[in-house]
Amino acid sequence: MTAKVKMLVNEWGALSECAARLKSKSVAQLFEADPGRSQRYSLEFSGYYLDFAKQRIDDQAWGALCDLARISGLPCAIKKLVCGEVVNPTENRPALHTALRAAPKAFDLKDASIAESVAQSLSKMASIVAKIYSKQWRGFSGKAITDIVNIGVGGSDLGPFMTCHALDEFSTDEARRLNMHFVSSMDGTQIFQVLEHLDPATTLFIVSSKSFTTIDTFYNANTAIAWLMDSVADRQVIMRHHVIAISASPEKMNAWGVPESNQLLFWEWVGGRFSMWSAIGLPIAIKIGMDNFLALLDGAHEMDVHFATAPFEQNMPVIMGLLGVWNATFLGINAHTVLPYDGRLRFLPNYLTQLEMESNGKSVTNDGETVEFKTCPILWGDVGPNAQHAFYQLLHQGTQEVSCDFIAPVMRYHKVEGASSVGARTSLAEQQCLALANCLAQSRVLAFGNHAVADDSDSEVYKRYRGNQPSTTLLMDELTPRFLGGLLAAYEHKVFVMATLWNINPFDQWGVELGKNIAKQTQAALKGEGSFLFDSSTDALIKRIQAKANTAS
Ligand code: F6P
Repeated sequence: MTAKVKMLVNEWGALSECAARLKSKSVAQLFEADPGRSQRYSLEFSGYYLDFAKQRIDDQAWGALCDLARISGLPCAIKKLVCGEVVNPTENRPALHTALRAAPKAFDLKDASIAESVAQSLSKMASIVAKIYSKQWRGFSGKAITDIVNIGVGGSDLGPFMTCHALDEFSTDEARRLNMHFVSSMDGTQIFQVLEHLDPATTLFIVSSKSFTTIDTFYNANTAIAWLMDSVADRQVIMRHHVIAISASPEKMNAWGVPESNQLLFWEWVGGRFSMWSAIGLPIAIKIGMDNFLALLDGAHEMDVHFATAPFEQNMPVIMGLLGVWNATFLGINAHTVLPYDGRLRFLPNYLTQLEMESNGKSVTNDGETVEFKTCPILWGDVGPNAQHAFYQLLHQGTQEVSCDFIAPVMRYHKVEGASSVGARTSLAEQQCLALANCLAQSRVLAFGNHAVADDSDSEVYKRYRGNQPSTTLLMDELTPRFLGGLLAAYEHKVFVMATLWNINPFDQWGVELGKNIAKQTQAALKGEGSFLFDSSTDALIKRIQAKANTAS
């Protein structure tokens, strides 16, 4: 056993002992013993305020977690990440999403040409946005574009979709004249519904795919091309006027017939779920304008610098990551819910589902060994106030332990002008107060259960709240491009911190490959091309589908 492994074993042992001790203590007891704990278990950074006092930790556990981070080599891992060393060993690649938002003030990058490539890509994005805004981008008949359809899936969809929704109020005047649509699902429902209402002469498709091979995206894209070709038979004309392609593979974009002028490139060292900062973010740049897109990048960069330089005890993503490991691995809490108290962040939980679960849903270490502990918890969420009327019942009175992230912008509606009347504005301000009150009230009840109310003596058993669900509350001054950028970067780094402590690779996703391959064979079987024998269940399902399809045709 090397000295490092010995230290790791000791530290894991110390933390397991802390967990055994703290499992029998409630959050209420922790507050009784330590009423001022929120001072120590909170952090203020550049308009964010992270309160983690309602987590089931004490000073001994917290100290041991910070030590574990150091012993696990987190300082060195962060340096390797931001400098562009290989941190994705199974694909032999760096993961340089930080470089996408750093130019020109890059970290000490190993490859100095990266900053220049990033700047060039941003400049090409800016000229495409300007061409669309100025109505110089025209369809085959000479009419200006009115509708933009982003076709992509996973990382080529979730980030732009979530951000366009979150920052809708930052839409530029030019963007307000355009309709933005997102199509991702392979079954065709979305593209079918979108195309029904569009005019081919004025519709522009953005085909987003890092690999440029994802079957979901290409079936949707081919449907779009077939729809366009009903109006104009010349594929070259269609490609020139109606398609922008975004990928890390210029060869594949060429082979698909996209003219170079309509290609936006990014790089293998950008992971799909970390790619909204690259050209994949084009729908965002169109929606909120280039200046706001750059503000989003700046916010993320500010968080990157904080992550790379702040001491662990005062480092927001590190704290978030350590708490994630503590809850999942040491306390054995295997469900985590994200609860934004702001409707604009409605799709944040979906985005984080891919970011966290595709990254850290792993069970083999970087040394090829099966892990002997729990890694990424099951993550889900919804807008908090709506979730109060759906799954909070389980959080409050169910049998599962769940850790929670409450997220809320503090200031809202203070800049609302124009359309809303003075009366409506006053009422909206009340609604914001109501949402914040609910956010704080729910985290209290989850933490303290019946202890949250002064007199809880007369409750029947079925009305009782056991509490003890740990949570972190993340407040930000307001929801702007800069704050959203920082928030998302914090979650990205949280994922990296957890992966480093678990010694797993957060940047590959081999677990999605087998299903894709098997689906090809199954598709052939469904179409009756060749004879296949799978298992009795699948064979019966295939027969049933074929029989029904035959009666329909
Ligand atoms: O299959 C999973 C995945 O590879 C994700 O990691 C990725 O974001 C998504 O598919 C889409 O991939 P692409 O951008 O290459 O089309």
